[in-house]
Amino acid sequence: MAKEAKQPKELRPYGEMSQKKLLKEKDALTQAYNDFKARGLSLDMSRGKPSAQQLDLSMGILDMLDGRSIMKLSHGVDVRNYGVLDGLPEAKELMADLVDARPSQVIVLGSSSLNVMFDTVVRGMLVGFAGCKPWCKLPQVRFLCPVPGYDRHFAITEHFGIDMINVPMHHDGPDMDMIEKMVSTDDSIKGIWCVPKFTNPQGIVYSDETIERFASLKPKAKDFRIFWDNAYSVHYLYETIEIPNILELAAKAGNPDMVFEFVSTSKITFSGGGLAAFVSSEANVFEMKQTMTVQTIGYDKVNMLRHAKFFKDKEAVLEHMKKHAEILRPKFEMVLSILDRDLKGRDAGTWESPRGGYFITFEAQDGCARRIVELAKGAGVVMTDAGAPFPYHKDPHDSMIRIAPSFPTLEALEQATNIFTVCVRLATIEKLLKEIE
Ligand SMILES: Cc1ncc(COP(=O)(O)O)c(C=O)c1O
Repeated sequence: MAKEAKQPKELRPYGEMSQKKLLKEKDALTQAYNDFKARGLSLDMSRGKPSAQQLDLSMGILDMLDGRSIMKLSHGVDVRNYGVLDGLPEAKELMADLVDARPSQVIVLGSSSLNVMFDTVVRGMLVGFAGCKPWCKLPQVRFLCPVPGYDRHFAITEHFGIDMINVPMHHDGPDMDMIEKMVSTDDSIKGIWCVPKFTNPQGIVYSDETIERFASLKPKAKDFRIFWDNAYSVHYLYETIEIPNILELAAKAGNPDMVFEFVSTSKITFSGGGLAAFVSSEANVFEMKQTMTVQTIGYDKVNMLRHAKFFKDKEAVLEHMKKHAEILRPKFEMVLSILDRDLKGRDAGTWESPRGGYFITFEAQDGCARRIVELAKGAGVVMTDAGAPFPYHKDPHDSMIRIAPSFPTLEALEQATNIFTVCVRLATIEKLLKEIE
């Protein structure tokens, strides 16, 4: 007789266990925790950096140019010299392709899109958009912040004293009812931070309807702008997922200048050594160039040429991203399988399996995130600070933890995730025991 496949053991929710059982489980977990601690490990699941193996994929970019390369291009631009404020035409075409825009909507700048976002907020503060008063001259300036979100976005608005308002995230993007209501009635709301595809940290992709609703907003403030950070536009782990082109939709809806889009090759080629671009209406591109002419004579066209030669078109980028996915996928799947193995059915938290991007979000029971991160640190595993994905570092439920699987080796990631799930179980039991007391 064929042997039946062994079913994975059903785990019991901690909430259904007696105090005695919980205390017993806590003892066993404390023992496991102390064993990990004694190993003196030093593991890091905190920042979303590509691994060295991923960076190796782009080494060919360094061979695109050498001392014999033709640096004066057919359109007359010498890439070694000053000039061409908005970027080499070849690089503009490449970056436009990444987000299905027209090259005339693109400015290629340095190597960091975050830097471009910072400068854009500075422009809003000091110069103003579309002839409106600079924000620094207004009594109150507010930004909407879908949460959980990218800590460095919130750091920019916090740095300039812009008030941040949390907007809850759903499975198809941020709460559009709340956004429509606030944006159309309050002219102190000047912007919103959005990562439309594979959000940092949940990996959510905004639905078509969400994007159409964004494009059709009726802002009370003429200078309200959507900061559309398309950082993960081609960062698929599995199938390709297309989202609607918000610039086109906004133009059709009568909001041609409402969207500032940002994109970079930081997680395509070299982090901090790639290309970053600003993408928007031609009018906004013109306006931005007015400030840029004061700021710089031009960015690094040598690097732009290297990138344009390395990637002939978007197809080449997508092929390259498949190689990234082959390295990243096993890491994501490793973390998810350990979460499943140790936590499914325990009612100790929830998580989703993202189809792209750089992160997995673990949503612990309310009041447990800080304790989990603290326990992990005690056992040698660095996680992103609890609270980081929220404005002012304040997670109202103390529940969200961002897991970044990209940088560690598979072996380190396995160890770190094993420790993480012990910490989750310990923190959950500690909480439940406190509630029983
Ligand atoms: C959503 C998001 N935007 C921007 C960045 C940084 O981009 P860049 O390297 O182009 O400054 C990151 C990096 O983690 C990110 O997650």
